[in-house]
Amino acid sequence: MYDPFSGGGSIPLEAQRLGLPPAYGSDLNPVAVMIGKAMIEIPPKFKDGKPVHPGVKERMDYHNAEGLAEDVKHYGEWMPEKAQQRIGHLYPQVDLPKDHGGGKATVIAWIWARAVPSPDPAFSDTCPRPGGTSLPQTWTGKPPPPTPLTSPPPT
Ligand SMILES: C[S@@+](CC[C@H](N)C(=O)[O-])C[C@H]1O[C@@H](n2cnc3c(N)ncnc32)[C@H](O)[C@@H]1O
Repeated sequence: MYDPFSGGGSIPLEAQRLGLPPAYGSDLNPVAVMIGKAMIEIPPKFKDGKPVHPGVKERMDYHNAEGLAEDVKHYGEWMPEKAQQRIGHLYPQVDLPKDHGGGKATVIAWIWARAVPSPDPAFSDTCPRPGGTSLPQTWTGKPPPPTPLTSPPPT
């Protein structure tokens, strides 16, 4: 069985589950290939294997991908814990505005943007300029063009 446009690999996976080996897939998208490998190639290599993570509980038999699944779960929890310990201080919590419920929130992604003073007389603050560094045509006439600033890093 061969799916030459296998994307996430559902057809080779089902073929494998139905016991129709060998099941093959390919795709021009490397992300799809990686997902396909993770679903179809890797789990069978660990079939019926015990998990290897430290502190694993003693258990005699593991079926199919149970041992691998336990390792994936263990390291899936271990990794964000380690990341939090090492770089968590770079992602401080922020104060939420009242209309967003108030209190503190953990930021999961910062979007960096250049900021320019607003040319709008009704709004005297700076405006973020996501994407590109050129100024809009309408801002290059009068009043004089605003000076680009780099938005300050979070403290
Ligand atoms: C609709 S998806 C495949 C879905 C998959 N067969 C399934 O059942 O889940 C189509 C896939 O074809 C891939 N593709 C498109 N043109 C291709 C080409 N010329 N060679 C290889 N893969 C291609 C795309 O990257 C995409 O992942």
